[in-house]
Amino acid sequence: MTTTIKSLSGKVALVTGGSRGIGAAIVKRLASDGAAVAFTYASAQQKAEALVQEIEASGGRALALRADSGDAIAVKGAVAETVKAFGGIHILVNNAGLANLKPYDQFAIEEFDRMVAVNVRAVFAAVQAAAPQMGEGGRIVNIGSINADFNPFPGNSLYVMSKAAVAGLTRGLARDLAPLGITVNNVQPGPTDTDMNPADGPYAPVVSGMIPVGRYGTGAEIADMVAYLATPGAAFVTGATINVDGGTTV
Ligand SMILES: NC(=O)c1ccc[n+]([C@@H]2O[C@H](COP(=O)([O-])OP(=O)(O)OC[C@H]3O[C@@H](n4cnc5c(N)ncnc54)[C@H](OP(=O)(O)O)[C@@H]3O)[C@@H](O)[C@H]2O)c1
Repeated sequence: MTTTIKSLSGKVALVTGGSRGIGAAIVKRLASDGAAVAFTYASAQQKAEALVQEIEASGGRALALRADSGDAIAVKGAVAETVKAFGGIHILVNNAGLANLKPYDQFAIEEFDRMVAVNVRAVFAAVQAAAPQMGEGGRIVNIGSINADFNPFPGNSLYVMSKAAVAGLTRGLARDLAPLGITVNNVQPGPTDTDMNPADGPYAPVVSGMIPVGRYGTGAEIADMVAYLATPGAAFVTGATINVDGGTTV
């Protein structure tokens, strides 16, 4: 009998916002690389359960946790549930995110707070809960956006702000956690075909024209970069912001 050792065998991961889109692609990739993967979702319980079943059917281990990233206590609770279920945590992917475009003068202050809570505060809360459990070799990957550096549309001020904050938080945390042997990186997708930004949606004709490779990316292509950053071989990459965008920002 031969046993295949996969690149993430024996590792435990938590992916926030993992029931659909980029997050689901990351969950599948980390599971197929051998990690036991917990993931959070906000409301789509059936999709989350279907993903768990899909991973288990191919011999992997997965756990769906309902936890609104707007609630820092729920986020920290998801880290605790992951550790309880799988015996530790080695990889944290902060993927859950909210986009909300409208003219700046039509945002309610509550919408500003919600954007910061989901896209920024949740990242910090998850890291605070997970890093002390990780130890040497821990891996944190934040999913930012090229919009942190490149904003071609009006009405995007709060999202741009939030993703720029994720890039800054990544740099600060990378320095704080380097002495513990934990890396922190920021993957910035370009236009990626998901429910949030469908390749056949209303913005698609204009957006596609901005992408040198001539098409939207896929969740799997973002997951490829996350999977690399999660490996032991990526130990010297920390504090980095890496665009996966088909050349959109060149
Ligand atoms: N798609 C793009 O073009 C693009 C480009 C750059 C960056 N990004 C970033 O990539 C990340 C994923 O985007 P996506 O396009 O895959 O989004 P998506 O298709 O809208 O999927 C979002 C996922 O996050 C979950 N989620 C949403 N709000 C949440 C909350 N408050 N708490 C917990 N989970 C929540 C959803 O769960 P439910 O199923 O329960 O709703 C779902 O699993 C986001 O951070 C986004 O800003 C996306």
